[in-house]
Parts: sequence; C-alpha cells; structure tokens
Amino acid sequence: MSILPIVTWPDPRLSQVCEPVRDPATLTDLVQDMFDTMYNAPGRGLAAPQVGVMQRVFVMDPTWKDGDRTPYVCINPEIVISGDTVAKNTEACLSIPGVSADVIRPTEITLAYTDLDGTRQETWLTGFAATCAQHELDHLNGIVIFDRLSPEVRAALETEYAALT
Ligand code: NI
Repeated sequence: MSILPIVTWPDPRLSQVCEPVRDPATLTDLVQDMFDTMYNAPGRGLAAPQVGVMQRVFVMDPTWKDGDRTPYVCINPEIVISGDTVAKNTEACLSIPGVSADVIRPTEITLAYTDLDGTRQETWLTGFAATCAQHELDHLNGIVIFDRLSPEVRAALETEYAALT
C-alpha cells in the first residue's frame, strides 16, 4: 500500500492529454496505489495524471462515503452515450483543494472502459457516479473543473484558490 503525492493545480500535467493504455496488466500496482491514495485523501475519484502518470486510467468509488464500496477501474474510458438531460452539481477536485464549483453535465451516461483483466465493459451510470466519471474522464483530456466554468466564475474561483495556496 502506498499513498502517492497528489499533483495540484496549476501543475501543467493537469492540462495535458493522457496516452492510451496498451497493456492493462501493467497497471495492477498503480491502480492499487491510486485506490489507497483516493480513499486516504479522502475522495471518490482519482485520475492517473493526478498522481503524475500520463495514462488513460482512473479509479472511482461513488458510494464508499455512504457505506458500501463499489470500486471501478476504468482504463481507456469513453462516453458512448450521453443523456439529453443536464444538471448542475457542485464538484470538488483533489487537485484543486479548498474550492468547489458548480458544473453542468449530462445526468446519465453509458461509459465504455477496459478493466484490469483487459475486458471491455459498458456501464450505464446515473447520479453522482455519472458526474464523477465525467469529471475523471475530463482529467485524462487535460480538463479540470475551472475549464467547465464561465470566464467570470472561473476568474473568481481562481482568485479564491490562489488566496489559499
Ligand atoms: Ni478532479
């Protein structure tokens, strides 16, 4: 078990597009460390670039803070269907500690991803799980919550964040 250091904004690695994973089996140790780091933070999602690994993998557990663990390992994830309904939810990010932002996203998605065994999966996600998966997938494309805001809201939040660091 290892707790990895979490990369924080404005580290340039948070703005870079990650590389596809070729061999999921090579990620076993990294994924374990990412779960350890996420649960320790404590958080409900963590993407590889947040621990300085520029590969397309994230972990999430949307339910553990409410009781039961439902860990997901999502390698080379893609949104294959986005619902038509959107909602605004308050999101936090382990890489931008101390601030939160209201982000508008589809409330339902179908996520395709490869698991650690190398099996391609397709899962329909709703509610917080859908929000979390979209947030983590954004990280793999170099997008953080600041990038999902209007220029005015972003500027205010960046000022608030800068005052904390
Ligand atoms: Ni984040």
